[in-house]
Amino acid sequence: MTRPTKHDPAKLRRDTAVLNRGFDPRLSVGSARPAVFRSSTYVFSSPESAERAFAIALGKVQPAESEEVDLIYSRLAHPNAEILEAQLVPLEPEARGAAVFNSGMAAITTLVLTLCRPGTSLVYTTPAYGGTHHLFQELLAAYGVLVRAVPAGDTAALRDAIATAPDPALVFVETPANPTLTMTDIAAAAEAAAARSPRPLIAVDNTLMGPVFQHPLPLGADLVIYSATKYLAGFSDMLGGAITARDPELLERLRLTRTLTGTILQPDESWLLDSRLATVSLRMNRQSKNAQRIVDALAGHPRLRRIYYPDRFEDPEQKRIYEAQCSYPGAIFSLDLEGGKPAAFDFLRRLEIAMNAVSLGGVESLACHPRTTTHSEMSAEQLDRTGIGEGLVRISVGIEHWRDLLADFQAALDAI
Ligand SMILES: Cc1ncc(COP(=O)(O)O)c(C=O)c1O
Repeated sequence: MTRPTKHDPAKLRRDTAVLNRGFDPRLSVGSARPAVFRSSTYVFSSPESAERAFAIALGKVQPAESEEVDLIYSRLAHPNAEILEAQLVPLEPEARGAAVFNSGMAAITTLVLTLCRPGTSLVYTTPAYGGTHHLFQELLAAYGVLVRAVPAGDTAALRDAIATAPDPALVFVETPANPTLTMTDIAAAAEAAAARSPRPLIAVDNTLMGPVFQHPLPLGADLVIYSATKYLAGFSDMLGGAITARDPELLERLRLTRTLTGTILQPDESWLLDSRLATVSLRMNRQSKNAQRIVDALAGHPRLRRIYYPDRFEDPEQKRIYEAQCSYPGAIFSLDLEGGKPAAFDFLRRLEIAMNAVSLGGVESLACHPRTTTHSEMSAEQLDRTGIGEGLVRISVGIEHWRDLLADFQAALDAI
């Protein structure tokens, strides 16, 4: 068997590559892990190199193959962001680059500012994370972008919206949708986009399943978006965002907007996130296994009207998309409780291990009431239509022992 080496990262498997790419110990006085480069500005090797670095940064000229370009200023790029971006690539099949941002919302804002112009259309799936929904419906629409929402999972409506939207610039798919886990067919969106000229780009918010259980680029997506705050960082102790893509030029356009808007991830956070990437697959596998066991044991509890979890989909179209798109069901599930909001609040108050907090993807289990928190930007009509009812509680399962978590959920349900 030939031995793949770190000098040929393309041949390494992802679990190895994530630890071996993008970092040269010689540039960090030999340290085995990257140093943190906190400097806001960088000393040029010569005035000519400074001139060249600016010309490249502003897109006036292209760098030569393997040219070493001087760093300029940390709002444009810095070593920790560059190391992190290189290490994100092997986690995303077919990605050729990544860009990191100081939150998931900073990534999404940078994306829409780069691609959407007044008079162009943005098609997106609902429910979407409340911040995303607000950004699209309030801010972007006010700047003249034609914003069109399509129910998640409705493949025919999605195809129709992409086919008929005036001058579509971007299709933004959050799948599975937070908090109902409704799945949208990425390949169908890509196929519908391919029939338009110019072709709108497909962005997938892969925060809930990726980069371990769902890979949007091989399904035809152009961009994969992460709230890195969630599974990538994994410990609920930092904010971050990331975008991966196949097309390096598209990433360069995003980086230019990032420079202008100041949305790059800071050096300390880049370093922290970098150290978490090697365990994302271990953590997510354990979290998903925990969630599967807990959901199986809770099913049929008399206090539950329904459990939202990919393993328990009954709708044949949802089952089909899940099987085509995801390798495991992930670690988020939502419980629809008998008794509406009072029952949901009572349940949250009674939990002793899972904490009542928004966010998800950390090693500790969290539970929240989406209708009054993460999704409260949506109108009552939109909430009802997208299945975010009064009795819905979203749970993000951590890496605790699943039997302890199950006992916590069962005791809270029994006591309502
Ligand atoms: C699916 C999804 N996308 C984007 C975001 C926004 O990310 P951030 O909070 O890192 O800005 C969130 C946050 O909850 C999310 O759940």
